[in-house]
Amino acid sequence: MFPTETYRQRRQVLMDAVSSGIILLMGNEDSAMNYTDNVYPFRQDSSFLYYVGIDQPGLAVVMDLDSGRTILFGTELTIDDIVWTGPQPSLSDRAARSGITETKSYQDLPALLAEANAGGRFVHILPPYRPENKVKLSAWLNVSFRQLSKMPSASLIRAVVAQRSVKEPAEIRQMEHAVDISGAMHVAAMEQARPGMRESQLVGIVQGIAVAGGKGTAYPVIMTTEGQVLHNHHHHRILESGQLVLGDFGGATNMHYAGDITRTFPVAPTFTTQQKEIYQAVLDAQMEVIEAIRPGVFNRDLHKMAARSMAESLKSLGIMTGDMEEAVEEGAAYLFFPHGLGHMIGLDVHDMEDLGEHYVGYGDELTRSDQFGIKALRLGRTLHPGFVITVEPGLYFIPELIDQWAAEGKHKDFINYQALAAYRDFSGVRIEDDILVTDSGYRVLGRPIPKTVAEVESIRQQVLTS
Ligand code: GLY
Ligand code: MN
Ligand code: MN
Repeated sequence: MFPTETYRQRRQVLMDAVSSGIILLMGNEDSAMNYTDNVYPFRQDSSFLYYVGIDQPGLAVVMDLDSGRTILFGTELTIDDIVWTGPQPSLSDRAARSGITETKSYQDLPALLAEANAGGRFVHILPPYRPENKVKLSAWLNVSFRQLSKMPSASLIRAVVAQRSVKEPAEIRQMEHAVDISGAMHVAAMEQARPGMRESQLVGIVQGIAVAGGKGTAYPVIMTTEGQVLHNHHHHRILESGQLVLGDFGGATNMHYAGDITRTFPVAPTFTTQQKEIYQAVLDAQMEVIEAIRPGVFNRDLHKMAARSMAESLKSLGIMTGDMEEAVEEGAAYLFFPHGLGHMIGLDVHDMEDLGEHYVGYGDELTRSDQFGIKALRLGRTLHPGFVITVEPGLYFIPELIDQWAAEGKHKDFINYQALAAYRDFSGVRIEDDILVTDSGYRVLGRPIPKTVAEVESIRQQVLTS
């Protein structure tokens, strides 16, 4: 945990930002995987972690905005619990560590909420996403699931998003560490990949590093020779010389701060000429965008900058034709880049996505586009100092999508479908880093992870010829 004062101050800022009523922050429960006593690894709710810091199941906190009281609800361990799971500090000791002086039994929480309801006091909740918490809240607030989905408090969501979006120095140190764990995972993959190996063997190697270095992987590992499938979680393919491996994975620190890094490398000692050209196009776009990061810039404009940069490269390869600024505005460039440039990252890999992407990535500043490609952009709004974002452009050759667009003659003024035929089985390249927006520009977090063609080939050549 951070120092006690950190949590007290964060809660004070939150309470000052929301006018009246009570704030209820629900911690998470253990969740059954296939039966009650066989549970998924426990993951605390991230807003609960941020404001309370206690990484244990079965807790909730109430902040009474009118009286100023803060109460931690939980359950003391019975001797039976201790026999099975070992001793733990008492509820009041755990509360004290977070700077909370008042505790109550979890069983008393429904009555407190009923009383608040009866008194016409507003109960501010965040959008519940776990079934356990949905069931509880629906019973306690006496509403259906459908009604519950409309009950989260916009003012609470806005206040939480405003606070969690700007990372404190201690959080940034955590995030640097998360990137360093992630970097070690990526270097291990580059060093240990061999033709004939199964993707799952590499997955095991990188997961082991994440478990040893912190809280394990921050999200399910992508490790694939079919990088054109954007969220490919299959790991059964055998690596063959001539293929690319796209690895999108990262570790989480012990305090759950996430790293989210992507690298793409050849199974062979070197990239083919075609692979090098596409790889360089993605890298150029990523570097161009990173260098443009500073407060006040719209991330949506950085997304378009990346799309334009890659489209210009594709034009020089004869795959695209015409005016590339127009090709981006018309949406033609998104045939090869159908996802967003990046997202906020912090305690969650897509930070605060449970609170609603609209609040996190757009707010009152922008309306999200519904155009294919850019509609997948999670973060469009202006950047501010303290934001940590990912920059993850990619180029993909998705046969099914190419076929569909070709059959429709879609954007045929911009796309040379004949030249494209030579890339049909290329797969995909993505390169992703985690970047802090500073007062005057940016800082790429963590120690550098091999990224240039020369750096990546140097690792592959060393390991394959040694
Ligand atoms: N790993 C998913 C992403 O990069 O957003
Ligand atoms: Mn990623
Ligand atoms: Mn990402």
